[in-house]
Amino acid sequence: MSLHGLLSVTIGVPNVEETAAYYTDFGLAPTGDSWFSTTDAGRQLRIVHAPTRRLVELRVAADDADDLARIAASLDRLGHPAELTETGLQTAEPVTGTRVVVEAAPRLVQDEVPATSYNGPGRFERQGARAPGFIRPDRVRPRKLGHAVLGSTDQEASTAFFTDGLGFKVSDRIKGAGAFMRCSTDHHNVLVLGAPVNFLHHTSWQVDDVDDVGRGACAMLEDRPERHIWGLGRHYAGSNFFWYLKDPAGNFSEYYSDMDCIVEDQLWTPEDLEGARGLFAWGPPPPPSFLQPEDLAAMMTGAHAPG
Ligand SMILES: [Fe+2]
Repeated sequence: MSLHGLLSVTIGVPNVEETAAYYTDFGLAPTGDSWFSTTDAGRQLRIVHAPTRRLVELRVAADDADDLARIAASLDRLGHPAELTETGLQTAEPVTGTRVVVEAAPRLVQDEVPATSYNGPGRFERQGARAPGFIRPDRVRPRKLGHAVLGSTDQEASTAFFTDGLGFKVSDRIKGAGAFMRCSTDHHNVLVLGAPVNFLHHTSWQVDDVDDVGRGACAMLEDRPERHIWGLGRHYAGSNFFWYLKDPAGNFSEYYSDMDCIVEDQLWTPEDLEGARGLFAWGPPPPPSFLQPEDLAAMMTGAHAPG
C-alpha cells in the first residue's frame, strides 16, 4: 500500500559512551546492545562508532512486499542500486551515503493520551488544580521518533532520492533550501537541507504536549546549560512546539509535540516558505549555530582528510 513511518535511526559518533549517556538522560531507554527504545515504538535509536558524527542508517516502514518491489523499481529507474529480500530493501542515499532500509512492518498504533486541560477566556477546563505538567511524577520519555534532518552537499539530489525513489511526499518547501517530506501522517519525517558538508543536523522525538517539551528540556539543562541550542518555540512548518539540545558528539536532538497530521493528501496544500517562516513561527531568534553548527568547519576538514 505505502510507506507509513520511520522505524529507527543509527547514529555514528566518535564518543559512543558519552553519547549513549546523553540519550539515556534524554529519556530513551537503553536496551544494553547499543539500541535505545521509545515508549510507544520500541528500538528506534542505535549508537555506533564512527570517526566523525553522521547518520549511518535510516529504517523506513512500508506495508508489504508490493511496496518494496515498487520502490526497488523506482530506485532502479533513477540508477540507485538496491538489494531486495522478502522482508526488506537496502539502498544508500546517494549524496550522504546514509544506508536506507525499507522494511515491511506493522503500522504503529499509539494509545490515545487524553488532551491536556488548558484554561482559556470563559473556559475553565482545569479548576482547583495546578497545571498537570508540574505534577507529573515521572521524567519525560519520548513516545516515538518523529523525524531526522540531514545536511547534504546536493540537497536536490538527496530530496529526489526520498521523493522519486522511495515515495516520500512533500509537505512544505523552504525556498531554495530543502523540502519537508513525510512517509507517514506526520507533517515531516525527513528534511534535507543544503550544506557545505554532509552531516546529521538533528533527530526529533515526540512527547505528550508543550509542557513535556519544556519539562524534558529543563531536566536536560539542569547543571548542563551547554546542551541548550534553541527553544522553546513553535515551527511554522509542521506547527510543532520545539526545543533543541545538543548531544556530546554535536548532533542536535529535539523534543516536539503537536505536529500537523496529514491523513488526506488532497486536504493539504504545500507552501513555499520564505524567510523566517522556513525556520519558525515564534520563539527566541535561532542562534547562528543552529544553521551553522560549530563543528561544521571541522567536519569539512575531516571529510577531506585521507582515510
Ligand atoms: Fe525538527
